[in-house]
Amino acid sequence: MADRLISPHYGDDDMQETSLRPRRLDEYIGQETVKGNLSIMLEAARKRDEALDHVLLYGPPGLGKTSLSLIIAAEMGANIKMTSGPAIEHAGDLASILTALEQGDLLFIDEIHRLSRVVEERLYSAMEDFALDLIIGKGPSARSVRLPLKPFTIVGATTRLGALAAPLRDRFGAIFRLQYYDESALQRIIQRSARILQAPMDAGGEEEIARRARGTPRIANRLLRRSCDYAQVRADGVITRAVAQAALNALEVDERGLDPTDRTLLLAIIQKFDGGPVGVETLAASISEETETIEDVLEPYLLQLGFLARTPRGRIATRLAYEHLGLPYRQTPSALGLWDAPADASE
Ligand SMILES: Nc1ncnc2c1ncn2[C@@H]1O[C@H](COP(=O)(O)OP(=O)(O)OP(=O)(O)O)[C@@H](O)[C@H]1O
Ligand SMILES: [Mg+2]
Repeated sequence: MADRLISPHYGDDDMQETSLRPRRLDEYIGQETVKGNLSIMLEAARKRDEALDHVLLYGPPGLGKTSLSLIIAAEMGANIKMTSGPAIEHAGDLASILTALEQGDLLFIDEIHRLSRVVEERLYSAMEDFALDLIIGKGPSARSVRLPLKPFTIVGATTRLGALAAPLRDRFGAIFRLQYYDESALQRIIQRSARILQAPMDAGGEEEIARRARGTPRIANRLLRRSCDYAQVRADGVITRAVAQAALNALEVDERGLDPTDRTLLLAIIQKFDGGPVGVETLAASISEETETIEDVLEPYLLQLGFLARTPRGRIATRLAYEHLGLPYRQTPSALGLWDAPADASE
């Protein structure tokens, strides 16, 4: 997955991302609902001169969760410390991070659904009461002490809201879902990035990259850099529609942003499983992918395009998928009446 050009995950090649990151809320393009609600929260917290309430950001990778957390800190004029669920191994790690926070500081916890149980339980009282309960000593002489903390803000990010324990989820004052970006927002992101990278491009080039970027700014920026390379080496330097098309076709990113892995997945459903329904585990095994990769990365975009549907008995390829792949559509008998089927526990 790591070497997929259209992987929404951060790769070595994305180092320039830092320079492309929006710094303030008004530079953060799209996600209007989230921005609207967030700016009210920010303004209210600033007026009251209080720490911002805890915020949870969720959505597929590469949509701007980390960027938004940095922006929240900038807008609050607060310090931000970045960590992640798997990085906080012991309750002691959490205690040392939290006790080092100053009044109003932000703690960004990426992949918050991957916190260990013990750490997560400690976090509950920290978030709610700004206090940490520590056990000092061992055996019969052990006693519990309550350590007060300065009011701070947790900004959590996750790709899987469902994997978060309810008590943790409930301690966030606001939960914002980031959506895939539409083409016009992506086009504005590409324009801004091209300006920063000083890459000459025209509207046709912008449109073409926006259409193939899977609704994801990180992918848009990456496709822009590859088109920029192509324009310099194979053309006169300007990213036109034809240049972007040629660059991205050569990289096997098709006109809807699908790459060979997506096409393999759709073809497997159609050819090996008769169009579906097929359970995600079976599907994963048949194309040698991780189930998690399919659920978190491949599927959300294919569902969004309407190429794939989730039914109680598994995934099916839709008519649009057949059409996209240039295959004749054939609805299998097993797919009929599927929507009324009882939920299958194995799904
Ligand atoms: N709203 C936006 N406007 C402009 N650029 C954006 C926006 N959102 C994201 N980007 C660009 O996309 C890149 C990736 O965003 P970011 O790292 O914030 O995503 P993420 O959701 O944290 O991803 P991950 O789930 O992998 O941690 C940023 O460096 C930035 O250049
Ligand atoms: Mg991130």
